[in-house]
Amino acid sequence: TGTYPFTGVHQAGIVTPAQDRLYLAAFDLTTTSRDELVELLRRWTTIAARLTQGLSAGPFGPASGPYDAPPDDTGEAADLPPAGLTITFGLGRSMFVGTPGPDGTPGEDRFGLADRLPDGLVALPHFAADDLDPARSDGDLVVQACADDPQVAVHAIRNLSRAAFGSATIRWTQLGYGRTSSTSTAQRTPRNLFGFKDGTANVKAEETDALDEHVWVPASAGWLAGGSYLVARRIRMRIETWDRTSLREQENLVGRTKGEGAPLSGGTEFTEPDFTAQGRGGAPLIAVDSHVRLAHPSSHDGARMLRRGYNFTDGNDALGRLDAGLFFVAFVRDPRTHYIPVQAALSRDDVLMEYLTHTGSGLFAVPPGVPDGSLVTGADGT
Ligand code: HEM
Repeated sequence: TGTYPFTGVHQAGIVTPAQDRLYLAAFDLTTTSRDELVELLRRWTTIAARLTQGLSAGPFGPASGPYDAPPDDTGEAADLPPAGLTITFGLGRSMFVGTPGPDGTPGEDRFGLADRLPDGLVALPHFAADDLDPARSDGDLVVQACADDPQVAVHAIRNLSRAAFGSATIRWTQLGYGRTSSTSTAQRTPRNLFGFKDGTANVKAEETDALDEHVWVPASAGWLAGGSYLVARRIRMRIETWDRTSLREQENLVGRTKGEGAPLSGGTEFTEPDFTAQGRGGAPLIAVDSHVRLAHPSSHDGARMLRRGYNFTDGNDALGRLDAGLFFVAFVRDPRTHYIPVQAALSRDDVLMEYLTHTGSGLFAVPPGVPDGSLVTGADGT
């Protein structure tokens, strides 16, 4: 696996064919200085541009430079290929307007950025059955590192976190070990921990019109034009209960077959579901409360999203149940039309919810890409 360009109209790591691994970190700013914030983002940009091209975090690398100073790269990726690393940055609502108090008192605009708050960067509402851990939610900044090698992704976050010392600290992180989506027609559809193909009906990189309509923020949206919004939801799955559920029930909950991933109305994986198709007795072949039906664009004024989630397993609880699930990541042009209504319908009516608990959440504005040629890069990438 090679390298993806860091610069471009859009940030990498969105339509980039989903890599095998994810390490995502949300940060809280500890500085209240706007200059320091700008400086941090500049530093991160330079480091990310280097790392994604297979270079060390700093110009000296892990094993040279001043002998009495810490090396400018931590070193654990030194002998590894770039593994398709992409680093994608996002900005949380709290960066612009602070965090409201529990009694509803407004947050503090620490950086004088309140008037730059993007319209879609709303506080997400409480969805039915949400059980969110604040220590796994929100944050002023987010960094999504994806690569085909987990060590490369973790190395990227570690070095960015190190470069943030004194300005920002990690609030929460999530490691994802298997992609649950395909974002290119060239990719095989992977499977989530329920054993079902996931990503079949996803928006794909090749669908450029659909990306403009559903993923990229339009030109009319000011400074965020060409960017997107990243929604993250840590969804725990009750997999032990699921594993005792009949195949018939599993397929009915999803609305697709487990083997092929075809809609229950017939056909093969990429056949469009037919929600009018009826079986014996007139019952719809795809149940009205199935996941695929409730999530389908036809239930949401045509809204689609680019899903880019990962499987996670974070140890187990005292009862021996895996703390496992799907770290849902999606990119949308406006969460108010393309995410919130869909999540509200799923949380309320989706029969799959019986097996799911949302335990973490974040919404971030993803700025457009760093324009080609705007970074000063010498022969060694500095
Ligand atoms: C489709 C599973 C959570 C939105 C699917 C499919 C599966 C699946 C198996 C069918 C294959 C495909 O088209 O990708 C799951 C599981 C979830 C989960 C196991 C939680 C652990 C979510 C959430 C959302 C969502 C939170 C959005 C709020 C969608 C959409 C589709 C889809 C938009 C495509 C529907 C279509 O156009 O046919 N999901 N999903 N899913 N899911 Fe989920």
